[in-house]
Amino acid sequence: MPDLSSNLAGIKSPNPFWLASAPPANSGYQVMKAFDQGWGGAVWKTLGVPVINVSSRYGGLNYRGNRLIGFNNIELITDRPLKDNLREIEEVKKHFPDHAVIASLMVESREEWHQIVKDVENAGSDGIELNFGCPHGMCERGMGSAVGQEPKVLETIVRWVKEVSTIPVIVKLTPNISDIRVPARAAKSGGGDAISLINTIQSIVGVDIDNFVPYPVVDGQSTNGGYCGPAVKPIALNMLKNCAQDPQVNLPISGIGGIENWRDVVEHLLLGATNVQVCTAVMHYGFGIVREMQAGLERYMVEKNFKTIDSMVGKALNQVKNWEDLNLKYKVVAEINEEKCIECQLCYTACEDGAHQAIGLPEQEGQRVPYIIEENCVGCNLCSLVCPVEECITMVRKDDGKSHETWSERTLNGNIPTTFNDELAGGLHHWVPEPSAALKK
Ligand SMILES: Cc1cc2nc3c(=O)[nH]c(=O)nc-3n(C[C@H](O)[C@H](O)[C@H](O)COP(=O)(O)O)c2cc1C
Repeated sequence: MPDLSSNLAGIKSPNPFWLASAPPANSGYQVMKAFDQGWGGAVWKTLGVPVINVSSRYGGLNYRGNRLIGFNNIELITDRPLKDNLREIEEVKKHFPDHAVIASLMVESREEWHQIVKDVENAGSDGIELNFGCPHGMCERGMGSAVGQEPKVLETIVRWVKEVSTIPVIVKLTPNISDIRVPARAAKSGGGDAISLINTIQSIVGVDIDNFVPYPVVDGQSTNGGYCGPAVKPIALNMLKNCAQDPQVNLPISGIGGIENWRDVVEHLLLGATNVQVCTAVMHYGFGIVREMQAGLERYMVEKNFKTIDSMVGKALNQVKNWEDLNLKYKVVAEINEEKCIECQLCYTACEDGAHQAIGLPEQEGQRVPYIIEENCVGCNLCSLVCPVEECITMVRKDDGKSHETWSERTLNGNIPTTFNDELAGGLHHWVPEPSAALKK
């Protein structure tokens, strides 16, 4: 069997599946139950000066009625006394010495950071995660994403923590920023041992249109929250890739965002995560989902001949290029399998109104299977994406399989004005934001 054991910047766990810092990791009872069921590590619900949380506090985005694809919360950090959490961390480590317990932390002053780091180390934590990501409630008090959005401040706090910590420090980043590499580099220069991403995305998940108040409702009012769950996976994967490809970051990464099953885990690993953290899927389906993750990951590793987790980390990164490096001569067109077609004509409508008018309908009475008008088809995939039948519409390669031309080659041939090209190459890709006025002080 493949070896599932994981090592993130020196934090060892029997497998790469960790609970993210959130309600499922709010108490010793829950963390021990999760470890019993197969989770390899847990990032404790963020500790700090305990808060009072509101009621209600969650909102959901359902797709077609019953599938929760997005989840929104306005919850803050832990509302439990620090001493209770510390006692329970100690207890968990006694029962599960080989599992990873990471303390997520969020306080304000240097003295507070020093004290709480010592407290969680004394309790036996294997690592620390700095919550620079919470995008509601705490950021208005200058913490959470307020730190994650100010690279100099982030770097300073990481330094404070590193002044006293003797265990690895993971810096958890906020996605509420235009270029995730900027805080990731600040985490590195502050001395962080790893980064984790993403925390939640600032959001309003919907509005009660009868009472004119967004969800979740707190006594007739609401506030913006943090968005997570399956809907955020594409954003998380892109930010993960950006950090993993950046030579100036060069830190191990804990991948978070929209992970529900073994396939999501594999995708995060292939794009550069050393391990993964899960929140919403556990809140939705319970700790038991780890069994499917473990079995699926093992099966996949055997099939692909990966012996260890590390050997698969980042395997997809070389295939992610800048747009201008893609082959402009590569051409696919749609093909409809008449045997599988259920004659719903969704592909026809989508292509006709929303794409390139490359699908026709038969004129003979009684015939309903659409056909492809190959000369109009640009190979955009839309018809295959809207088709409700698996493998009914496939994209078939139609170029000669050899020719290759990129945007830059075309530019060199004089097809695009050089000034525009220079501007893009010199400007867009090498753009680094100026530090904000507050940081220059
Ligand atoms: C209700 C709720 C509470 C959360 N609390 C925290 C927290 O205290 N500290 C933290 O770092 N992240 C917190 N998060 C963010 C998660 O740890 C995680 O980064 C995010 O939900 C994305 O992962 P997911 O898509 O698997 O949910 C919370 C998320 C939710 C839904």
